[in-house]
Amino acid sequence: MCGIVGVLGTHEAAPLLVEALGRLEYRGYDSAGIATLDEGRLGRRRAVGKLVNLSDKLVHEPLRGHSGIGHTRWATHGAPTEANAHPHAGARVAVVHNGIIENYRELREELSARGIGTSTDTDTETVALLCQLYLDQQMPPREAAAATIAKLEGAYALCFLFEDEPDLLIAARKGSPLAIGHGEGEMFVGSDAIALGNLTDRITYLDEGDRAEVTRAGVVIFDAQGREVTRPEKRIAQAAAQVDKAGHKHFMAKEIAEQPRVLAAALGHYLTPEGRIALPEPCIDFTAIDRLTLVACGTAFYACNVAKYWFEQVARLPVEIDVASEFRYREPPMPARSAALFVSQSGETADTLAALRYAKGQGAQILSVVNVTESSIARDSDIALPILAGAEIGVASTKAFTCQLLVLGALALEAARQRGTIDEATLAAHLQGLRALPGLIDQGLSIEAECQRVSRGLAEARDILFLGRGRMYPLALEGALKLKEISYIHAEAYASGELKHGPIALVDEHVPVIVMAPHDELFDKTVSNMQEVMARGGKVLLITDTKGARIAGDGTWEVITLPEIDPLWAPILYAVPAQLLAYHTAVAKGTDVDQPRNLAKSVTVE
Ligand code: F6R
Repeated sequence: MCGIVGVLGTHEAAPLLVEALGRLEYRGYDSAGIATLDEGRLGRRRAVGKLVNLSDKLVHEPLRGHSGIGHTRWATHGAPTEANAHPHAGARVAVVHNGIIENYRELREELSARGIGTSTDTDTETVALLCQLYLDQQMPPREAAAATIAKLEGAYALCFLFEDEPDLLIAARKGSPLAIGHGEGEMFVGSDAIALGNLTDRITYLDEGDRAEVTRAGVVIFDAQGREVTRPEKRIAQAAAQVDKAGHKHFMAKEIAEQPRVLAAALGHYLTPEGRIALPEPCIDFTAIDRLTLVACGTAFYACNVAKYWFEQVARLPVEIDVASEFRYREPPMPARSAALFVSQSGETADTLAALRYAKGQGAQILSVVNVTESSIARDSDIALPILAGAEIGVASTKAFTCQLLVLGALALEAARQRGTIDEATLAAHLQGLRALPGLIDQGLSIEAECQRVSRGLAEARDILFLGRGRMYPLALEGALKLKEISYIHAEAYASGELKHGPIALVDEHVPVIVMAPHDELFDKTVSNMQEVMARGGKVLLITDTKGARIAGDGTWEVITLPEIDPLWAPILYAVPAQLLAYHTAVAKGTDVDQPRNLAKSVTVE
């Protein structure tokens, strides 16, 4: 979603702003812009589409000055046009914004009643015009910004730049993250540490409701009540701010390939050297709850779907599961003996955060499984479990998914141990299975060339079906999501047994059907459903292991064979072909793999 950057520098700001915006491209955007102060005068340049269009414009119409703000916009209110691109401006102030100003219609009416008209479709323009109104009423910039912010309802990260104030940026956060970067005689503002990765590694994260007055001498922060507060300055590890493709063609390819390493790191965190589960203390008492609620969006939701099988089958713990956008408005009662667990790569997904706050309001114990440990979801949780996947830049989630599964798997085993639903030998065997994962994923990655070849055929299809049963059903859902989001091919997933209740009508020789079926306790059932597809001319791609391929490979269109694995953990390994097929199909179709159309990496609006 939208990305923000601000610079109070000692050199030309425009190249720094554009470079930082480049580091925010991964969030997804459809226009970009910057504003700088050139000898005290505000100048703006904006362009629709990729950042290169803005850079081109700056070549022909450069902007000078050492102070500036920049923005990548993911359209919410108003089409992605140049007029709607940020920064928005009044006569003496420019503003960039991430989020949604919910009362912008009322603000527009207020402005209109004073004869101030708007010229864009955005909610953000009202922020700039309101601030300008206060400046016109002779309020100094700091006060004008504070008065403006006080009028806003909704979610925002904001950064203001004022004419004739080359040593001031005002930043504010409510509902959308924002970080302040500290340099030597320079200061910065950014949506996250990645944005500021080339500028500084010293970061102060703003808290909910904070307003920051940033000058080259430092930052003064006020909380939601207007009290001056101190927020800690942290050093961000170089790796956390690293955004390079390490020789791969796409971030997605790099992140798929990184999985053995990051899974090993996560295992090192969650298992002791002797192979026992090591959770942060104090952690949840699974004997004190009768129900666990799992909530997330998208790929993280499918990780929850897999985990439901684990918690219910192994720990005999009833699990309720929902997508965050439904959960938050369904207002489900939360029994006293229950806990709620939220899964999110970014930790900033607006619906997941709102669902978390609802559950908290109901008195539930709150756990989260997150990648970004400084995120709002992590901060609002009683217990936040990091997945340690490192920065995930490709919009399509890959390594975060497998790391989420690994952490949820360890948690489910811990639940089973505490609740006495697993014997020592079985627990040890499953733990051994978890430890084997990085090696198996590494072996699994050797199917890449095969996936690439098969993907040329998939790229010709208009519709593709995915089938799975039991723990593999969520993997079918994840495979379909991954494929459709980056290749734009229509893909649907069904529980294998559901096929004959309707969707089998879709089957013909033009619709590839991808069946995910390790040789587990449900294999024969899934194969029966696969036979029903083949009997109707369906073109089946079977993803299985050696045993499965031997038994059921005949008559299929293609078979992709993975190493044998403890069936409990098969969903983690089978994520690899789901990812590789989506990736190579998208490459074959020539789509924008890392930044697919219309999508944002971190969905910070409802
Ligand atoms: C799909 C994908 C999305 C995210 C979803 C939740 O590849 O990445 O479906 O999983 O937007 O995002 P987080 O995990 O950041 O809450």
